[in-house]
Amino acid sequence: MFSITTVILAAGKSKRFKATSSKLVYPLCGLPIISHVYAIAKKISGKKVVVVCNNENINELKSILKDCVFVIQNQQRGTADAIEQAQNKINSKNVLVLFGDTPLITLSSIKKLIKKFLSSKVKASLIAFRTQKPFGYGRLLTKNNVLEEIVEEINLNIYQKKINLCNSGVLIAEKKILFDNTKKIKINRIKKERYLPDIFKIFHSNNFNSNYIECNEDEMLGINTLEDYNKVQSILQKRYIDKFIKIGVNFLKPKTCYLSYDTKIEQNVIIESNVTIKEKTIIKKDSIIKSNSYLEGVTIGEKCNIGPSARIRPNSIIDKNSKVGNFVEIKNSKIGKKVSIAHLSYVGDADVGNNVNIGAGTITCNYDGNKKHKTVIKHNVFIGSNSSLIAPVILEANSKVGAGSVITKNIPKGSLAIERSDLKILSNKRTK
Ligand code: UD1
Ligand code: MG
Repeated sequence: MFSITTVILAAGKSKRFKATSSKLVYPLCGLPIISHVYAIAKKISGKKVVVVCNNENINELKSILKDCVFVIQNQQRGTADAIEQAQNKINSKNVLVLFGDTPLITLSSIKKLIKKFLSSKVKASLIAFRTQKPFGYGRLLTKNNVLEEIVEEINLNIYQKKINLCNSGVLIAEKKILFDNTKKIKINRIKKERYLPDIFKIFHSNNFNSNYIECNEDEMLGINTLEDYNKVQSILQKRYIDKFIKIGVNFLKPKTCYLSYDTKIEQNVIIESNVTIKEKTIIKKDSIIKSNSYLEGVTIGEKCNIGPSARIRPNSIIDKNSKVGNFVEIKNSKIGKKVSIAHLSYVGDADVGNNVNIGAGTITCNYDGNKKHKTVIKHNVFIGSNSSLIAPVILEANSKVGAGSVITKNIPKGSLAIERSDLKILSNKRTK
């Protein structure tokens, strides 16, 4: 049986990223950068994942990555030294090496790599890519498609600098051969590091065959700076959006929208411009999300009409055929079917039944300065504009609230509640 352990190298110090914590835990489309890589590692090797980290990021990484083994590399002596820290934790015949800061790598490329490795019966296989901007990457020296050596940027001569076939860092190798030979990797005199890619020259000179596959350059972008982060994020956004376009979601201005790693959108949904969809959001079929809306932790049922400029916050459910209009904020609430909350309202900690109309400017006053309280609005309730519902409060089915009322008591079934002082109209003379 094919047995493999994935080692994720993550002992870098994130200096160029300039965040206050490790860049590897920085969120990328709602998921820490390293978790994108980790999700792929799990699919390849299940619980056999070893993460090489440092003294500073181990606790942060432990809090987000479960079911894997951590080893610490005390000093950053290079990628060869990093992989050696994992040696004793690998119980399988083969090892896959991934980098924690390269989150665009796809499962299909790794599968392609494994297939090539197994079918050609070599001791190691590598993922390479071609780019117009090879600066900074290790370059592959090949002869008749045979990989002879990888040379890092600082050691390239002027001819080799023109090579655009680069090392991604992702490789698979037989464990025994790998560690028998990493020992032989010498320290680079300029960088004072031991480079894992030097293994390929050692393999070649010992007649251990190795080979490579080529992948799309986009998959190999590493995140070193915030500039890289932005590039990676746009590529990921495009991937997510293209996936939904294929199943019939219409983005009117796709480049202006933001989706999360777990966003679910069904067929025939229209998403207008500048829509932000944060984590845990589901949009069911035939709904429309109009411009400038911000959705987070919400399930939107079929045929809903949301926005423009609606804000829906976590733990909310909007059921079928409902409308949430402009400048409406909803939080931690269940909204029934055929409900209309069309303008300028705040609905928080509320349970709203079916066929309810919530007039413009209605506010659920859920917070007493100390605790949050619930508002219950049952089926077929009509609430006139500019009403304040002081929670905890229950509006029973078929009740009505007159515009401008402040509701401080429960309203019985079918009745009308109105709270207004008498209107005075003073004559023209008396006002002079
Ligand atoms: C590395 C490769 C280069 C390749 C490029 C692809 C080496 C020597 N060079 O260069 O051929 O083209 O990736 O992006 O491998 N790390 C540790 N401990 C260390 C050093 C690094 O865990 O002591 C980890 C880093 O956290 C990172 C990965 O290894 O996840 C790669 O290290 P990095 O310093 O970014 O290598 P590059 O210079 O990008
Ligand atoms: Mg790098």
